[in-house]
Amino acid sequence: MKPAEDFSSTASWYRSFATHGVGGYSPIYEGLSFGVADDPDVVALIAQLPRPKQQPNLILACARLLGAPLGPYGPWREWLVANWDSVRAEALVRSTQTNEPRRCAVLLPALALIDGPIALLEVGASGGLCLFPDRYSYDWVSGAGEHTRLDPVDGRSALLLECATTGNPPLPAAMPEIVWRAGLDLNPIDLTDPDAANWLETLVWPEQVDRLARIRSAMEIVRAERPRIVRGDATAGLAALAAEAPTDATLVIQNSAAIVYLTPENRADFIELVTGMDARWISNEGPGIVPSALAGVGEAVPQEKDEFLLALDGHPLAWVGPHGQRLDWLAPAS
Ligand SMILES: C[S@@+](CC[C@H](N)C(=O)[O-])C[C@H]1O[C@@H](n2cnc3c(N)ncnc32)[C@H](O)[C@@H]1O
Repeated sequence: MKPAEDFSSTASWYRSFATHGVGGYSPIYEGLSFGVADDPDVVALIAQLPRPKQQPNLILACARLLGAPLGPYGPWREWLVANWDSVRAEALVRSTQTNEPRRCAVLLPALALIDGPIALLEVGASGGLCLFPDRYSYDWVSGAGEHTRLDPVDGRSALLLECATTGNPPLPAAMPEIVWRAGLDLNPIDLTDPDAANWLETLVWPEQVDRLARIRSAMEIVRAERPRIVRGDATAGLAALAAEAPTDATLVIQNSAAIVYLTPENRADFIELVTGMDARWISNEGPGIVPSALAGVGEAVPQEKDEFLLALDGHPLAWVGPHGQRLDWLAPAS
């Protein structure tokens, strides 16, 4: 089985985040997270926060937002202890809402399996960057080095999303027709608000300059579209928003790195609700978040530490990189 992340204590959460979350992506955050995990005094400070607010990515981003020096643990720790009251206050009002447009490179092949026209409803939409898969250009590159390109109907996008593929995925030759779209989020991000946009940028890990450039480019594209993102809970708000979708389009409910934030009970309610609706359902979450998808994979679980499982209507389609960088298509079940 895949190694599970360990959230059992604050220290183990930070150690696990260093290994499974930022390991291999952000040496700075990796060092800081290991530093916290091995520092009982700082762990004790963070452990005063409500459990969800102890999240490593949240504390690291709040400290960064407020000016913590990014680098070795010593100076960062000194800054954190001196500025703890401000970091604590910031963490209490913020949440990690990382919006990653590159996830569209794995979501779009799933969307293209569905007959259109499509009404796309994203649960946990953040700023809406994954609500506009048809506004970006794509370059899927197979293990053999073959490129599959796709552009919006009106030509090449300012943002090109690259994605490495294995397993011969059915990549779309044309953009799906999306005739209606809306997001649902506990805390919608308004991309025209400079503070909100800055927070989305701050959530990108320090060394990921390409990722930051992609997010900035996607924000510019989506800002112009003025996405409709309704404030509401994934389960409580879904039916009302879904009822607004045009009835002559196929309603697609999409969640990506979102229902992981629900309690297990709320997540089970959400899954029951969405599977009972007259809609198709695309899910892109960590393994085990949608139990039927993980069960459908059987034994073929990869050992990579950070994969997401892409699923359509609760059935697994592919293991994917958490930021849309890889699409490893699963062989169709026989
Ligand atoms: C990490 S972001 C993912 C954004 C986007 N789906 C993506 O893949 O880039 C998760 C989003 O889920 C939202 N969220 C968390 N719990 C929620 C809930 N119970 N109902 C609705 N949205 C929720 C958060 O506010 C946040 O904007």
